[in-house]
Amino acid sequence: MIIAIDGPAASGKGTLAKKLAAHFSLPLLDTGLLYRATARALLSAGAPLNDAAHATRAAQSLDIAKIDEHDLRGAAMGEAASVVAAIPSVRAALIDAQRRFANQPGGAVLDGRDIGTVIAPHANLKIFVTASPEVRADRRYKEALGRGEEVEYDVILADIRKRDERDSGRSAAPLKIAEDAVLLDTSAMSIEDVLAAAIRLVEAKSAAAKPPG
Ligand code: CDP
Repeated sequence: MIIAIDGPAASGKGTLAKKLAAHFSLPLLDTGLLYRATARALLSAGAPLNDAAHATRAAQSLDIAKIDEHDLRGAAMGEAASVVAAIPSVRAALIDAQRRFANQPGGAVLDGRDIGTVIAPHANLKIFVTASPEVRADRRYKEALGRGEEVEYDVILADIRKRDERDSGRSAAPLKIAEDAVLLDTSAMSIEDVLAAAIRLVEAKSAAAKPPG
């Protein structure tokens, strides 16, 4: 089964994807890491993030099986990733590897922004995970405090709004809900509730796919 999970920053899609993949023993690809790794390549070379030729070469040379997650997780890299992710040739360079991952025998879970719309429009189940910008900012704020970082809620909220706007407003594979996706608004849901809801969706799809009798 191919499960596509899309949604905006801090919606909980990454956590859900990880737990769902573990629950059903499916391989998982966090596609945000591909854009983060591309952005890191530019930053470490001292190149501007809008250098399309450089960014495309960096994306082409990524090996999706060997992404070193070191330095990739923070908010600054997420912001940088959303700049390179708006470059159409960067997205094009990453499509085949993502599709191969999605189409491997036995299925896979992928999370990102365009999995249900572009990478795996044929996915068996598409979940669009969202939450209000305030709830998402609050989650990021608490995570940062937990790591001992000094952060301001208002700054995080402004960053989330800016990233939503860039990801939804770009012309190349903008963040949008696929027509056949199930919307999960996690604003008032715990991680356990979200996982339980998603497991029910997967089970309903599997039952519907089985021949009667
Ligand atoms: O976890 P968070 O949502 O903050 O970030 P992420 O999923 O790692 O994505 C970082 C950035 O990469 C996003 O803001 C998008 O601009 C971009 N991205 C994308 O364009 N397409 C994807 N399939 C995944 C990420």
